[in-house]
Amino acid sequence: MMGDAAPVIEVTRLKKYFPLPRKYPGQNSLQVHAVDDVSFAIGRGETLSLVGESGCGKSTVGRAILGLIKPTAGEVRLDGMRIDHLSAGRLRPLRRRMQVVFQDPFSSLNPRLRVREILAEPIANYALARTRAEFSARIAALLEKVRLPADAAGRYPHEFSGGQRQRIGIARALATEPEVIICDEAVSALDVSVKAQIVNLLADLQDELGLSLLFITHDLAIVEHLTHRVAVMYLGRILELADRRTLFALPFHPYTQALLSAVPVPEPGARHRRMILKGDVPSPVNLPSGCRFHTRCPHVFARCRTEEPLLRKVEKAEGGTHYVACHLETRPGTAAA
Ligand SMILES: Nc1ncnc2c1ncn2[C@@H]1O[C@H](COP(=O)(O)OP(=O)(O)OP(=O)(O)O)[C@@H](O)[C@H]1O
Ligand SMILES: [Mg+2]
Repeated sequence: MMGDAAPVIEVTRLKKYFPLPRKYPGQNSLQVHAVDDVSFAIGRGETLSLVGESGCGKSTVGRAILGLIKPTAGEVRLDGMRIDHLSAGRLRPLRRRMQVVFQDPFSSLNPRLRVREILAEPIANYALARTRAEFSARIAALLEKVRLPADAAGRYPHEFSGGQRQRIGIARALATEPEVIICDEAVSALDVSVKAQIVNLLADLQDELGLSLLFITHDLAIVEHLTHRVAVMYLGRILELADRRTLFALPFHPYTQALLSAVPVPEPGARHRRMILKGDVPSPVNLPSGCRFHTRCPHVFARCRTEEPLLRKVEKAEGGTHYVACHLETRPGTAAA
């Protein structure tokens, strides 16, 4: 995973602020701080999950990596190459290497096209096949990879169930032979049992193809059997980043603990005490001072209201990686975990 090999994706100090339209002339311009200084890397063959409540900036991170939006600040690298400032034309050949699977296969698959045509499009776009026979062979191989029957090629998206449609979405993402797939709530809309099947498929494909996955989800429970590392986001920032075992067994940040306490079946040995956060997520337009989580934190103390904690390595971490942005980490004689 990480460590020895150079990362495939590297995000450095990424910020994305969306300006809000002014309500009256002369009004100060307001901004949505959708992503506010986020850094992480994904290794070859690694899954990193980005989790957090709705609106915390997960999809914005994904869109910035894919070049669908220009960052306000910060850098995105693919295989060491900076890509955040590239024009659409320069980015195009690199986009072949990074694909995305969205939540809603209904709206992301053209209902007028047969599966064959849906899969042929990216193959043609990147000139990965020339003859009819080459196209057919590639399409058959893609259907087999996602465990759909060969005759699926001649059918339309509406003829499939939600889970099967998501398999078509995954096949389409695989069509360009990517190194990285960003799954943005890719299984969130599916029934529990179907969810597990798609998660297993993604894990198998990762093994088989050495894919790097950025798995974006608001649901911590579904990443437990898939992910290598987890980054927990809140109001545009990463508050905790750790390898899976550490995050599920020894979460440090009070926010991570609250998210985990809502997960039905915790890792064996994990403390399980349902923790309900008070209040709502503050507005990303007017961020709280100091730690952005302090308005809801059960352990808040004076420093949290004035000074923003940085993401720092947890010294006591036993193997693996563990980073946390919380003043409790440095308060003598205390430990949240
Ligand atoms: N184009 C845009 N213009 C203005 N604000 C935006 C835009 N896109 C996103 N936002 C805002 O940025 C913040 C982060 O949005 P984002 O979609 O990244 O969150 P998310 O974590 O993916 O949420 P969800 O779990 O609901 O998908 C939200 O407050 C959202 O309203
Ligand atoms: Mg989203």
